[in-house]
Amino acid sequence: TANDSPTGPQPTATYDSAFLKACRREPVPHTPVWFMRQAGRSLPEYRKVREGVPMLESCTRPELVTEITLQPVRRHDVDAAIYYSDIVVPLKAIGLGLDIKPGIGPVVDEPIRTRADLARLRDLTPEDVSYVTEAIGLLTKELGATPLIGFAGAPFTLASYLVEGGPSRTYENAKAMMYGDPELWADLLDRLADITAAFLKVQIEAGASAVQLFDSWVGALAPADYRRSVMPASAKVFDAVAGYGVPRIHFGVGTGELLKLMGEAGADVVGVDYRVPLDEAVHRVGPGKALQGNLDPTVLFTDKDTVERRAREVLDAAAGLDGHVFNLGHGVMPNTDPDALTRLVDYVHTATAR
Ligand code: CP3
Repeated sequence: TANDSPTGPQPTATYDSAFLKACRREPVPHTPVWFMRQAGRSLPEYRKVREGVPMLESCTRPELVTEITLQPVRRHDVDAAIYYSDIVVPLKAIGLGLDIKPGIGPVVDEPIRTRADLARLRDLTPEDVSYVTEAIGLLTKELGATPLIGFAGAPFTLASYLVEGGPSRTYENAKAMMYGDPELWADLLDRLADITAAFLKVQIEAGASAVQLFDSWVGALAPADYRRSVMPASAKVFDAVAGYGVPRIHFGVGTGELLKLMGEAGADVVGVDYRVPLDEAVHRVGPGKALQGNLDPTVLFTDKDTVERRAREVLDAAAGLDGHVFNLGHGVMPNTDPDALTRLVDYVHTATAR
């Protein structure tokens, strides 16, 4: 089965796509574009197919996953697809009691707070997520030359949900564990690193051409704490998938002070939120990495001229980079006009055509 075979050579057309070339810092025919959260509530066709299907259940239905993943590719002509799933899917798959509450986010039945709680985090096997392997098999056939990005939540961001029990603004329980019981914290993150690595491997072996590790909430930490308490686990994930040769992207929000360390954790491409311009981010990250970003997603609530002016500023800031993947500085917001996204893709392609 697809599960047992290591990822073979990518079809040449995919390997030669603008997106993968930019990730490898090779010359591109145009700046590639995709959007975090490009699949989802901004699209009426998404809301239609999701009607009556709970979020986490939708992630286990290969035909539905395939359809939702393809929707933004068809509509916007983006340069990459991102696999429709969620960061908590592997945790659900190993039997943790959790759900995604509409308008709230992931909520955990019993938060992980003690050493005894760690026993609930067993290893993930490919059989736990066989629907992922099946869906990616369907998807890569449909996508042709368009690359598929697999993804997972990074250990810190997953831990933030597991320890808090749900979304948080302060991460007081998670950070208290990190500062006050560093051994328990390190063991928790190490467990999550193994689960995350296993989940990414499933996606790559099934045909994903790149992976993104979302450490969305890690911007809550000081660099010294990131280096000591988070980076080893994130590096373990990146190391585990290094041998496949697929680009590894790393993104978090509010990570201006962490960009260098996030690159050092093992990313080939560092995602930048909208707070740091790319011509500044490139100095913070240092040589040898491509950058991804970083138009403020709220710019899409303005008129066409303003969107184009702000997109132009992002492209100008990226002009000196030797690898740029255009994206938003965080995910597409649910009320975004999808036509504004389509126009933005066209603008970036036209403005950067070489
Ligand atoms: O198009 C894509 O980007 C692929 C799909 C995707 C989803 N979640 C689907 C989803 C991706 C990449 C994610 C990642 C994810 N999930 C992150 C990291 C990215 C980021 O935004 O920083 C995080 C922190 C989560 C956790 C999570 N899941 C949140 C905060 C929410 C929103 C809750 C809400 O209703 O506002 C979810 C739910 C979720 N995941 C939705 C989608 C399309 C919306 C739920 C729905 O449509 O019913």
